Amino acid sequence: MKTVTISTLNKLKAAGEKFSCLTAYDATFSHQISSTGIEVILIGDSMGMVLQGHNSTLPVSVDDIAYHTQCVARGNQGALIMADMPFMSNASIEQLLLNAGKLMQAGAHMVKIEGEAWLAEGITELTRRGIPVCAHLGLTPQMVNQFGGYKVQGKTEAAAQAIISASQQLVDAGASVILLECVPTEVGRLVTEAVNVPVIGIGAGPYTDGQVLVLHDMLGITVGHTAKFVKNFMADARSIPEALSQYHQAVKAGTFPAEEHCFS
Ligand code: KIV
Ligand code: NA
Repeated sequence: MKTVTISTLNKLKAAGEKFSCLTAYDATFSHQISSTGIEVILIGDSMGMVLQGHNSTLPVSVDDIAYHTQCVARGNQGALIMADMPFMSNASIEQLLLNAGKLMQAGAHMVKIEGEAWLAEGITELTRRGIPVCAHLGLTPQMVNQFGGYKVQGKTEAAAQAIISASQQLVDAGASVILLECVPTEVGRLVTEAVNVPVIGIGAGPYTDGQVLVLHDMLGITVGHTAKFVKNFMADARSIPEALSQYHQAVKAGTFPAEEHCFS
């Protein structure tokens, strides 16, 4: 399989073609996902829930992400590897740089950071040092205690404008990708039109350039509540590789997400 880079994603956006992303935490799934042609693999701090059994992402450490990034990198067949910067790994610019450096040395091709417009300075410092950044906006799960729960973001006109303008500012600061979580479909569309970098959505509607899901969610094995934006791709598949392929095809064809997975 051809190697996916930031330039590949930019070309797909320019051509109006969709791309897909899934989380992975180990070499076997990394191999399966990348062999399917899924363009991006995320070592998400969702591992706090699906691997470690916590009820939030807050307990995940940089060492946890680094270890799983090494595992994913060994199995990877050409996907772009994105690693999450966990809770408080950016307590200062210096810590942000050193921790992001660790994840790159573990095998990541880029890092993802949760926040708002204030991320700009850190993003500029990272990109100066050769670390591409995905800025994760909207519902940022590390802020769950501040938000008072996992809630759709950008619902008012002012909140929507804040997300759109933060996206633009962070792209100006050097962000290579924007990821939007749990925002109304219209906000997903406006951000995707406003910025000249690829936008990945999860619960952000069908108009973003790419889609991402947590692996365990799309395999239908997550314990407890699953979000509205999740589709169980095992429901119509006979094997995990087939479910991965159906997810990838559905994103490419624009049939996932459907109306029922979106917020208005
Ligand atoms: O940690 C994660 O899996 C994520 C995705 C849900 C975007 O951040
Ligand atoms: Na995450």
